[in-house]
Amino acid sequence: MSFRRIEDAPSNKTALVRVDFNVPMADGAVSDDTRLRAALPTIEALRAKGCKIALLAHFDRPKGKRVPEMSLAPVAPALAKLLDAPVAFADDCVGDAAKAAIEALPAGGVILLENTRFHAGEEKNDPELAGEIAALGDFYVNDAFSAAHRAHASTEGLAHVLTAYAGKQMERELDALNSALGDPKRPVLGIVGGAKVSTKLDLLQNLIDKLDRLAIGGGMANTFLYAQGVEIGGSLAEKDMADTARAILAAAKGKCEILLPVDVVVAKEVKPHAEARMTGLNDIGADEKILDAGEETVRKLRDAMKRSRTLIWNGPLGVFETPPFDQATVIAAQEAAELAKAGKLIAVAGGGDTVAALNHAGVADDMTFVSTAGGAFLEWMEGKALPGVEALKR
Ligand code: 3PG
Repeated sequence: MSFRRIEDAPSNKTALVRVDFNVPMADGAVSDDTRLRAALPTIEALRAKGCKIALLAHFDRPKGKRVPEMSLAPVAPALAKLLDAPVAFADDCVGDAAKAAIEALPAGGVILLENTRFHAGEEKNDPELAGEIAALGDFYVNDAFSAAHRAHASTEGLAHVLTAYAGKQMERELDALNSALGDPKRPVLGIVGGAKVSTKLDLLQNLIDKLDRLAIGGGMANTFLYAQGVEIGGSLAEKDMADTARAILAAAKGKCEILLPVDVVVAKEVKPHAEARMTGLNDIGADEKILDAGEETVRKLRDAMKRSRTLIWNGPLGVFETPPFDQATVIAAQEAAELAKAGKLIAVAGGGDTVAALNHAGVADDMTFVSTAGGAFLEWMEGKALPGVEALKR
């Protein structure tokens, strides 16, 4: 992929930088600053060029209206702390007040502009809004891979109005994802977990064409087991997806080896430290639910990791939020991290619950790469073109 990079950007100008500051907040303050930290390399690089930096971001889904609880204002002090430099705030991402505030910045100064989604034109990718935002700066940088599945004015439209550059986090994400699915070292193993087959159909279909092996876990695996005639008792499953599950297994034949659970952990209720037992697939009671993968399944999965050079992981293997049903996810994550640390496996993970699961296992920092993206990571795993990325190509 060919992009303009930060290194090619001009010095001493005003950069409009799209970041993803859609961060968890608690009591009006940022409670997880991962996405703020991800933006620092781009901000630092532009500061070193003497550029003024106006940051564009969305927060939550205000649907084109000014919703005070969805203001980005609390993010400015959190970013200032990380940058160890002042971060100004303007209460609109367009208009004279924002322009004056940017003009007042010193060289290398940083300002955060209010939630782009307070304008209805943002989600409509309105060229008029893109033009008004563009009037505030000299060039555009997109550093928000995790919002790149949205064709919005600040994620896509602006790239057609101003000269556009890929930010450093954008580059890191694209490089990592390319090393996992684009041009990977083989064999490649995928782990896909999570509750529902129906939300991950496109993803599974794309993956069986790209991977050498695919392990299916979590609630989704129950649907596959049911489709193969296993009595799954009271387990979560989408029984109406049984035909689809069989079709996926048939399509994978000869291309991609599918690993399904061979044993499971069952309990009568999902509650912390519930009475649970491990069992094979032929002995699940009508009143029992499958809540995690069993030891033999995890042993096979670890073995598959050892035989792979690349791993791409999305979704937990069990109900990891509720111990003891976190065990399969934790043990598999620890194995992936060990192999990655030893340089034996390129281990890339992302999307939704995955990061929380890896944090729970204490190994997020040991993976080769953990994406900051949720929905964008999934759409990319589905093989879809991401509008925010496409618009940067030249
Ligand atoms: C995210 O948090 O995954 C991105 O910021 C996208 O947010 P959205 O789903 O509200 O578009």
